[in-house]
Amino acid sequence: MADTRHQVQSGNGNGLTAILGAGSLGRLWAALLPTGTTTFILRQHAPEEHKPDVTYRFQGCHGSQFPVTVPSMDWTTRHPDVLIATTKAGDTLSALEATLPNLKPTVPVVLFQNGMGSQQAVAERWPNRPIMAASTTEGANRPDNSTTVHAGRGETWIGALTPSASPLVTGVANQLKASGLVIHEEPNILRRLWGKLIINAGINPYTAILDCANGDILDAPLFRETIGQLCLELAEVMHLEGLPPRSPEDMQSQIEAVARSTAKNTSSMCSDVRRGKPTEIDYINGFIVSRARAHNLPAPVNQMLTERVKLRTTKLHEPLSDSPGAT
Ligand SMILES: NC(=O)c1ccc[n+]([C@@H]2O[C@H](COP(=O)([O-])OP(=O)(O)OC[C@H]3O[C@@H](n4cnc5c(N)ncnc54)[C@H](OP(=O)(O)O)[C@@H]3O)[C@@H](O)[C@H]2O)c1
Repeated sequence: MADTRHQVQSGNGNGLTAILGAGSLGRLWAALLPTGTTTFILRQHAPEEHKPDVTYRFQGCHGSQFPVTVPSMDWTTRHPDVLIATTKAGDTLSALEATLPNLKPTVPVVLFQNGMGSQQAVAERWPNRPIMAASTTEGANRPDNSTTVHAGRGETWIGALTPSASPLVTGVANQLKASGLVIHEEPNILRRLWGKLIINAGINPYTAILDCANGDILDAPLFRETIGQLCLELAEVMHLEGLPPRSPEDMQSQIEAVARSTAKNTSSMCSDVRRGKPTEIDYINGFIVSRARAHNLPAPVNQMLTERVKLRTTKLHEPLSDSPGAT
């Protein structure tokens, strides 16, 4: 099915959503929110530099396709009502450092990063701003630079991280509901982020180390020999962090069920390693290691997985000593 949507310049502050991070997730939101109500905040180079529109072809879950053109942010004429940050966890703090001086202090900021740690860093850096976090099971990817695919429909939960965000969650959720995606208000967003962290910690590093689809980890010796201990470490850290108790066995069953139900999917971490991009391991298993350390606990399996994923990323980047031009 063809659709000829085209994003046009929006008015000032009329349901305008600024999207920081024109990657897969940012482009998904820009394609599905009403035409003319989104703008991309691109990397800051020089203030006077002209930033181009972002154009791509969007492919919906059920095969519909349409072209999308999203204007880039012009801070002199446009005033967003909401900023959603769809940068990777490791880029988010610095991207917001560059952006927030332009944004009115009352405008809510919604963090869409996977894992944990980057959200807390942002909330601690700007405690007086309305900062929210979102946890989403929507899936988007970019098979090439000019195409964005909505690979799987999911749901999104949004909740406040700082006190001034609490009264604004309903308004933000309503603004994002215009996308047609399923949005829930979440009074305990940290608990929900932990729930997703368990799944990510139990699937992503194995797929990245073993270079395989989600379902293929289930019979791999590395997974079978360490998943029990991994879940034990997760349960201990969550308990010490004051979260409701979860049994390690229950976590393991849940991780295995998700690996089975998404058996053919390639995790974002596996795909980052394959494309030679930095992974979010420091915000997934690395986060568990740092929280364990804060409680004087060892977390050897999380540590081992973190190190092996990092090693894999470095190894793929190391120039071969006998390759032409290598120093
Ligand atoms: N994709 C999904 O389905 C999905 C689902 C759930 C959660 N998430 C989470 O959402 C986050 C984004 O994921 P993604 O898949 O969309 O990643 P992505 O495709 O890598 O997109 C991130 C975008 O942020 C841009 N960026 C980085 N630093 C920036 C800066 N300082 N200013 C402006 N833009 C900047 C990147 O530009 P460059 O390419 O130039 O670096 C890239 O376009 C991750 O934390 C991910 O775990 C994604």
